[in-house]
Amino acid sequence: MPDALLDLQDLGVQFPDRNRPGGVLKAVDGVSLSVAPGEILGLVGESGSGKTTLGKTLLRLYEPAAGKILLQGKDITHLDEAALRPHRRAMQMVFQDPLSSFNPRQTIHTAIATPLLLHGLCSKAELPARIAAILAEVGLPADFAPRYPHQMSGGQLQRAAIGRSLALEPQLIVADEAVSKLDVSVRAQILNLLRRLQAERNLAMVFITHDLHVARFLCHRIAVMHFGKLLELGPTEQIFENPTHDYTRALIGTLHDLPA
Ligand SMILES: Nc1ncnc2c1ncn2[C@@H]1O[C@H](COP(=O)(O)OP(=O)(O)OP(=O)(O)O)[C@@H](O)[C@H]1O
Ligand SMILES: [Mg+2]
Repeated sequence: MPDALLDLQDLGVQFPDRNRPGGVLKAVDGVSLSVAPGEILGLVGESGSGKTTLGKTLLRLYEPAAGKILLQGKDITHLDEAALRPHRRAMQMVFQDPLSSFNPRQTIHTAIATPLLLHGLCSKAELPARIAAILAEVGLPADFAPRYPHQMSGGQLQRAAIGRSLALEPQLIVADEAVSKLDVSVRAQILNLLRRLQAERNLAMVFITHDLHVARFLCHRIAVMHFGKLLELGPTEQIFENPTHDYTRALIGTLHDLPA
């Protein structure tokens, strides 16, 4: 796909097998997929199927054992840290637990200011206005900037985490179970925020979730992982209405019995 923002080709990631001394575990095994600009790709599959490993590897937080990672057509699979730096901005990660992703001794202002200054995106004088704009974009009042993480609710903190990742104006966000720790009502608000950001910024996402309701609500396409392999990938409605694999059918089977 020439217009892909991200293109993974036959990607493989291995770890020493925790259960077999001397053995190798193929946590990700021959995965090929692409993400278009502005596309939300859901990554689903049971625990241990390799979703987080795939997400971290495409961000080059893990070293792939095989295959290629192309970002806007450029091969970043084996770039060293220095060569990778200009590409790091393009892809950011949002984690499940926002509290642990902030330094407890830093205010929200400092947490957002640090990457902005580090990447030379903003002068010190421009910081307050820039940070207020970022907070507004994620639905937080500007007077949250001097707060510390423990002075905010889980939902507010996840908004701040999303704001911090947006500060570098990425084209892709990897969100790993980013709403699964939140209360149901807060979860809906954060999902709506992600939807709005996708639409307004044409932001692409790899959205990792156990929650198939959430995947169905948010994602354009869904990739099903099983033991490190990509089992099937298709438009969301196709995955839900007409899955190819029995495994996918079983995975979504329970969902059809629940109210939407
Ligand atoms: N750093 C590591 N060292 C060794 N093995 C690992 C490491 N990280 C993950 N694994 C193993 O790789 C496999 C895939 O793990 P991964 O965390 O990617 O799965 P997941 O789909 O994200 O699961 P979950 O839904 O529970 O978050 C698992 O068997 C896991 O035990
Ligand atoms: Mg995981």
